[in-house]
Amino acid sequence: MALDWQPLQGAFGAELTGLDVTRVAPAELLSLAHRQQLLVIRDQRLDPAGLQQLAASLGELDVYPFAVPLPGTPHVVAVVKNPEDATNFGGAWHTDTSYLPRPPSLTLLYAVELPTHGGDTLFADMCAALEALSPRLRAILEQLEAHNTASLVHGAGGEHQAVAGESVARQAAAVVTEADHPVVRVHPDTGRQALYLSRIHSERFVGMTREESLPLIDFLQAFAVRPERCTRLVWRPGTLAIWDNRTVQHNPLNDYHGERREMHRVILRGERPHGVGS
Ligand code: SIN
Repeated sequence: MALDWQPLQGAFGAELTGLDVTRVAPAELLSLAHRQQLLVIRDQRLDPAGLQQLAASLGELDVYPFAVPLPGTPHVVAVVKNPEDATNFGGAWHTDTSYLPRPPSLTLLYAVELPTHGGDTLFADMCAALEALSPRLRAILEQLEAHNTASLVHGAGGEHQAVAGESVARQAAAVVTEADHPVVRVHPDTGRQALYLSRIHSERFVGMTREESLPLIDFLQAFAVRPERCTRLVWRPGTLAIWDNRTVQHNPLNDYHGERREMHRVILRGERPHGVGS
């Protein structure tokens, strides 16, 4: 049976209400997530074990290399900002861990505790961004790979700096956190093409210096996240979001200083990114 959903307020994404996500056929949910890119499922009751189990029904569980998971659930990370913290986890436009050779396909994020106001997350449609570029620039981008690295935010050599997510990301990465990926990425299930780079992870284009690359990276990042391509998610406790990192960027807002926000996050292992013709 097809899932009943409504378009989200914003540029893209789907909202599902009045259902228990643990009772939905995983194949239906997965297919909808791929097609709609962002799913928001309200009023769920998911403890860490339940969230991990749901994620496992959708794909292979992955490990975020910079964080210690919650005890008993090795794939669930608590994304916490405490009242005394200045920065928030992932507090800039990005797609999750694009510096891994096989970056995560989907991210599941579940709202546990929210500030009285603020703490929304912005999402940008990277397929729409690519489609809005002029054909000549698209053709150039199809030929390019970006060199993605964790070191722009996590420090060279894998040591963690006092940046966004300090309260959760205390573990140095013991895995490769550098990877070259196509700038135009083809989704393996839908065949849709998306712009795949980000200002905080893409250091330069392969074969070019950072100085040469940065103006174009900056332009593409700003162009991609123009308001007409964005959806703003206002969380409620019990909201579950599932997004497709191959076609979406996100940016959690850090606008609730002095208050606490706690989210539980699981990532699913993705494929090695495909470019056009690869
Ligand atoms: C993340 O970047 O995965 C965290 C997003 C959020 O806290 O809203």
